[in-house]
Amino acid sequence: MNVLGIETSCDETAAAIVKDGKTVISNVVSSSLNFHKKYGGIVPEIAFRKQLETITQVVDCALKEAGMSLADIGLISVTDGPGLLGSLLVGISFAKALSLSRDIPLIGVSHLYSHIYAGFLNSKIAGFPFVSLVVSGGHTSLYYVPALNKISLLGSTQDDACGEAFDKVARILKLGYPGGPEIEKRALGGDPQKIKFACSNTRKPLDFSFSGIKTAVLYYVQKSHLPAGRQASHLSHVADICASFQESALNTLVEKSLLACRMKKVNTIVVGGGVAANSILREKFNRSFARMKLKVVFPEKKFSMDNAAMVAGLGFWLYKSKGRSALDLNVSLEERTRK
Ligand code: KG4
Ligand code: ZN
Repeated sequence: MNVLGIETSCDETAAAIVKDGKTVISNVVSSSLNFHKKYGGIVPEIAFRKQLETITQVVDCALKEAGMSLADIGLISVTDGPGLLGSLLVGISFAKALSLSRDIPLIGVSHLYSHIYAGFLNSKIAGFPFVSLVVSGGHTSLYYVPALNKISLLGSTQDDACGEAFDKVARILKLGYPGGPEIEKRALGGDPQKIKFACSNTRKPLDFSFSGIKTAVLYYVQKSHLPAGRQASHLSHVADICASFQESALNTLVEKSLLACRMKKVNTIVVGGGVAANSILREKFNRSFARMKLKVVFPEKKFSMDNAAMVAGLGFWLYKSKGRSALDLNVSLEERTRK
């Protein structure tokens, strides 16, 4: 079955066609990022206006790239949350209209669970049960996954998401938005042990907190009066700050993921979300988990960031287990399962 995936939860307008939940036939992502850059973050009003303008072309483009028409599509899978309200409504309304007018079944899926599924695109699904870490600009959560339709939350951030902390630290250092890729690049030339930045402890061991470390970077920068401009001393100081912040933030993700696997007695972790594109994160996970004889699954880098292939992939399996969504499908802003 060919599934058309539609994803509009943040600044991207994305459409993809995935066969049998697995083989990605086309994957189109259009981002309005350039229109947000000068504001230092995503402006919801701009995001959904751009999505309204582009969604028809993006879906057309995904069909064209696949050499298909709507007659070849057996299911439409659309992100129904969490995310920006207006943006989600664009995707859901478009998907409903297509579903109704062409008599194609529709299913709404969670953006976060789609990030979990991204690691299985163009490859096989890991053996159940496994633990999953979703680490993005809006969320940092650990899940227990005994089956794709029985996901439960083990812990999540109590304040900032990890990607959000990368973005805020980049803003403090005037490195632009989004901050993650820029911090990763700068950190390459820095010493990760130079400055001791620590993530705050949390009451529950599988929860996260990234707001304290971001503030620690802010105070450090204010106190150290960085030399201005492009001088070599400035650049190497910024590189050390990036490397030291990144080291601590990523180590927390690895440590808590290892703990979750131990607590749930599982031998596989599946990592997803924008921060999973970070090469140092991948190295750290691979090294630490191999040492404990545990398996790590990462998506291809292009499927770490927001995309519609992961939405199509997960939709296929959920449709098989629970059937289609009704046409009154609505935005679901909350994570659906709690401990
Ligand atoms: O999953 P995603 O594309 O969108 C959300 O669902 O939030 O994640 C975007 C987040 C941003 O905060 C961005 O700074 C972060 O992922 N990110 C990274 C890297 N690439 C993107 N963080 C660290 N290192 C990276 N290489
Ligand atoms: Zn995302």
